[in-house]
Amino acid sequence: MEKDISQAVIRRMPRYYRYLGELLEEGVERISSNDLSSRMKVTASQIRQDLNNFGGFGQQGYGYNVQFLYDEIGKILGLNQTHNIIVIGAGNLGQAITNYVKFEKFGFLITALFDINPKLKGQMVRDIPIYMMDELEEYCAKNRVDIAALTLPKERADATAKYLVQLGIHAIWNFAHVDLDLDSQVVVENVHLSDSLMQLSYNIVKNSD
Ligand code: NAI
Repeated sequence: MEKDISQAVIRRMPRYYRYLGELLEEGVERISSNDLSSRMKVTASQIRQDLNNFGGFGQQGYGYNVQFLYDEIGKILGLNQTHNIIVIGAGNLGQAITNYVKFEKFGFLITALFDINPKLKGQMVRDIPIYMMDELEEYCAKNRVDIAALTLPKERADATAKYLVQLGIHAIWNFAHVDLDLDSQVVVENVHLSDSLMQLSYNIVKNSD
């Protein structure tokens, strides 16, 4: 990508992608920015501005070609390639994520889980094996791993993340409630459902004032 796109714009892209995917499923071939705007409840000018970051994609008087826009946003988000994910911590959350089959639709393939609890050794989640952490190094040497999801206790998250980086993994999907202290070339996406709940709670309080 030639220029840096703001993270705020990038954060809006998956939503565009989702809406365009729904339009495709409905057989819609093209859509004006006004129609997309009323569907998504975002102003048409916001849509034009966002998409202009990537060269526009729209044509005056024609609107957007839904398939083209869907494919282009998919490419921007790197969804035209598959990403192999390993899950570190095969407890409640790690297994729940692994059980969510639909990530595969976007090319995110969970290939293995790792844990330290010997009771989990050899178990499967769907058809995906749980290995022990002492098998991780060998696994990474033999298999391509693009992303590691951290779903282990927060006390272990930072040291484990550093170990993963040593093994050549440069993208961390972090669910542990701790800020990881990693080199800047490692990309980290933090997911905290409780942050979202707190925001909801704030809005409940605000609305009841
Ligand atoms: P859990 O206790 O069910 O699972 C944790 C698993 O990690 C266990 O199987 C345990 O054996 C394993 N583990 C412990 N130390 C390990 C290590 N050094 N290496 C590999 N595996 C190790 O806990 P749960 O409910 O699945 O939560 C997991 C983590 O995710 C916790 O840190 C929790 O706070 C966090 N969490 C985050 C959420 C979010 O929205 N970000 C939502 C729910 C949980």
